[in-house]
Amino acid sequence: MKEKIYIGVAWPYANGSLHLGHIAGCYLPADIFARYNRMKNRDVLMVSGSDEHGTPITITAENEKTTPQNIVDRYNKEHTENMKQFGISFDLFTRTTTDNHRKVVQDIFLTLYKNGYVYKKSVDAFFCDNCSRFLPDRYIEGICPYCSNEKARGDQCDECGKILDAQELQDVKCKICGNLPVIKTSDHLFFALSKFESKLLEWTKDKKHWKSSVLKFTRNWLKNGLNDRAITRDISWGITVPVEGFDDKRIYVWFDAVIGYLAASKEWAQQKGESSKWEEWWKNKDAKHYYFLAKDNIPFHTLIWPSIIMGYNKSLNLPYDIPANEYLRLKGEQFSKSRGLAVWVPDVLKKFDADAVRYYLSINMPENKDSNWLWDDFITKNNDELVGTYGNFVHRVITFTSNNFGEIPKKGALDDLDKQAIQKIKETLKEVGDSIELCSFKKGLRAAMNLAQFGNYYFDQKQPWSLIKSDKDKCGISLHICFKIVQALAILMAPYMPFSSENIWNILGNNDSIHKASWDDALSELKIGTQLEKPKPLFKKLILDDYMTKKDPFSKLDLRVAKVVDVKDHPQAEKLYLLQIDIGALGKRVIVAGMKNHYTKEEIKGKNIVIVANLKPAKIRGIESKGMLLAATDDNVVSLLNPKEANPGSEVFIKGIPREPETVLEFDDFKKAAMIIDGNQKATYQGKNLESEKGAIVSDLTVKKGAIIS
Ligand code: MF3
Ligand code: ZN
Repeated sequence: MKEKIYIGVAWPYANGSLHLGHIAGCYLPADIFARYNRMKNRDVLMVSGSDEHGTPITITAENEKTTPQNIVDRYNKEHTENMKQFGISFDLFTRTTTDNHRKVVQDIFLTLYKNGYVYKKSVDAFFCDNCSRFLPDRYIEGICPYCSNEKARGDQCDECGKILDAQELQDVKCKICGNLPVIKTSDHLFFALSKFESKLLEWTKDKKHWKSSVLKFTRNWLKNGLNDRAITRDISWGITVPVEGFDDKRIYVWFDAVIGYLAASKEWAQQKGESSKWEEWWKNKDAKHYYFLAKDNIPFHTLIWPSIIMGYNKSLNLPYDIPANEYLRLKGEQFSKSRGLAVWVPDVLKKFDADAVRYYLSINMPENKDSNWLWDDFITKNNDELVGTYGNFVHRVITFTSNNFGEIPKKGALDDLDKQAIQKIKETLKEVGDSIELCSFKKGLRAAMNLAQFGNYYFDQKQPWSLIKSDKDKCGISLHICFKIVQALAILMAPYMPFSSENIWNILGNNDSIHKASWDDALSELKIGTQLEKPKPLFKKLILDDYMTKKDPFSKLDLRVAKVVDVKDHPQAEKLYLLQIDIGALGKRVIVAGMKNHYTKEEIKGKNIVIVANLKPAKIRGIESKGMLLAATDDNVVSLLNPKEANPGSEVFIKGIPREPETVLEFDDFKKAAMIIDGNQKATYQGKNLESEKGAIVSDLTVKKGAIIS
């Protein structure tokens, strides 16, 4: 029987578009692994689907004033489409709202209950009197005890990343109505995770092949002891609880989602018309189970899901490996849906070929540490490596041969360099294969690229352009070898860049898809005599454009705290002051300000203000103003912005918007960053607070909500 490989990939929440962090975190590595194993003639079953229950979905629905069903339908459709466009070759990408999924989840839930691993317990929970409902973690907002972020969620703080217990938050609020919730007791069903501690310890003993980060994380959790976890929630969107007395609750989304791994396998078998075929992966002890996910999902896959499988007690296979990735970051910051800091998959797919993105994500994969998505690096690697090395080699071989032979030439006697080339192909095939087997995808791709580089070297050494004149036969042999390298590259790159490999495969005269070929076809005899046409370039050169450099207008501003050290009248203008200001490390300078009708000299002197330090200097009534102060204006009042006791020279910033000030800011660019005062007298830009080291910047005098800052 063929070897069986099961590949489970983390289920994305169907509450927003996918971003490149998702792709680099799990879908791409899983796909590389799946494609490779299929080419090794192993039976691969790769499944996943949309994670469609729980508060991540209901909160999105409430924010958009629509139904959860609407949200999950929209994003399930989009994710399914995007996975396909990206070439992620799932055997099944389903969803957790199917009947099949519900049945499998309820069966496991009930079996665990009967086996004594699920029990009832009353717990204190937040209840909102105003909304007359219990509030699950994500419906609670408060101040994070670790970083003081005011908008921390009951389950986690997005600012510092800490996992929280809702009870730890200070100043808790109901996220729906803003009211102060009260604590009430409520019955919930708990999963007895603690009962699996010793079994899990035993099970992890021989997991020396796991990534050290995954093993360390898991053993640490085990060392600290496992707590039983509530697996019911006070919401109405989700799978109903198959135990009496819990009609108004639903199964916890994580408990439901991980079971998807089994449910999807069953659904796949049903769709094939062989309803017990899933057992070939789940009940056959030789089948190996791999799970791909990003690091925040580790405990659910190394502890919770294995415990569920153990407690279910039907001899189903446990995970073999869980090669979790670290994060892909954007300019050093975490991709974040809520902060709009991401590169979105639907946008990327409109602009670039999937293979170009797959290349950069693979060569730059966050396998063992976080990596960065950098646009200029993406362009450089695309142009120099993908186009310049790999694409160039394939292109020059096919073009030259097409022009001079019109077909793939026959082989002949080999010289030393030819033999070296054949040897290099064999070595590379082994090296890439060995690397992918160990989920070292970056290393594998580097080795494959190295062969492309060798190809260029070989071509240059052989100089077919002069050989064609002196010895056409010998030239043909060299090109034959070149085609052997091209063929090998098509196979080696197929797991990484499936679309371009398919392209090359067709040019080489194969009628079948490369994804039906086997890994050893890298060494097959060429189809001699295959007619060649002038090829289209395999990859496109890219240039940095507005989409990629798109800066938030606010990031171009250099806002600073400044102290007014002296105030004089403008000699030429009635309404203007000349302010001598101190900007700490930026030194002292003079700015012209139209404040005379609003502040007396005594009021303004000694004050801390906010200035635009990089605004293009302008002559105002004959005197140069080096910068401009910021003031809020409504119908009646003009008020300075107040940065409290922040140090002169310190930066004014917005969390989540990188500070990338222009050297000289044009006034038009300043106007693009429209700022206003909100209902709490705070200075804001697009709903986000302007801050200094001393916290929020506020209006000095009381102005109307919506007052314009300029
Ligand atoms: N939806 C979860 C997330 O995005 C992942 C679920 S993975 C599964 O973090 F194990 F539950 F399937
Ligand atoms: Zn409420």
